[in-house]
Amino acid sequence: MIGIFDSGSGGLTVLKAIREQMPSTDILYFGDIKNAPYGEKSREELSRLTINNIRVLQTRGATSIVSACNSVSASLAVSLYDVLGLTSQNLIEMVGPTVSCFKDFKRPILLAATSATIDSEIYQSAFQMLGIKIDTVAIPKLAGAIEFGTPSKDQELLIAGACAAYDMRKYGAIILACTHYPLALASFRKVLGEDVQFFDPAEAVADRVKRQLWPREVGDGKLRFLVSRDTPQFRSHVTKLLPDASYVIEVLD
Ligand code: DGL
Repeated sequence: MIGIFDSGSGGLTVLKAIREQMPSTDILYFGDIKNAPYGEKSREELSRLTINNIRVLQTRGATSIVSACNSVSASLAVSLYDVLGLTSQNLIEMVGPTVSCFKDFKRPILLAATSATIDSEIYQSAFQMLGIKIDTVAIPKLAGAIEFGTPSKDQELLIAGACAAYDMRKYGAIILACTHYPLALASFRKVLGEDVQFFDPAEAVADRVKRQLWPREVGDGKLRFLVSRDTPQFRSHVTKLLPDASYVIEVLD
């Protein structure tokens, strides 16, 4: 069984792409909504939450883990693999699959993400190694606004405020390097224009999951959600993204 985690609803974009590619795989999804949003937390706090999330999934039977959260990527250090019984074979994260889609890209990239992801410099080092010019834009409070259902008008103001200083014509692509952001794609388009190329990494991560975990993670297509706090917004994101799926949602104490 594959275990996927995020601070809340963002990872559902990745879950949807994985389900499309591997419909018969059993998936357990953990949304740590009680601690959302993650993007403004310290590296130490994120490491603690990451270990907890992986353990929650493993103790309920997950044999492979997908981190559908960019903000914790810097916490998924190889030094933790032994403690958590992980290897590069059964842990998949966001950064590697995203960067590899751009390995032959020639134009500058704008990376939109949380402060935690940008401050970790994990994407910047990878793109610099490939000789690709990268600028970053943090959009504080946007992931939380998406998670807790702030009206889209207010989400648009957050995007507009953060991106005001950037000339979008400079960039070949804007990478939505927070899994919550594709849930607000319509707002991004409205604020930044229809000509901007947005890149949602969900497909690339799902491709990697399939390449690495299929057919090892074959099952019956069962889908189960765990949340550390129950919210109507999470339930509504699940219904919108997976209208035909049957599933159970369990709230952790
Ligand atoms: N969706 C996560 C990410 O990709 C976390 C966002 C947040 O909780 O701030 O970074």
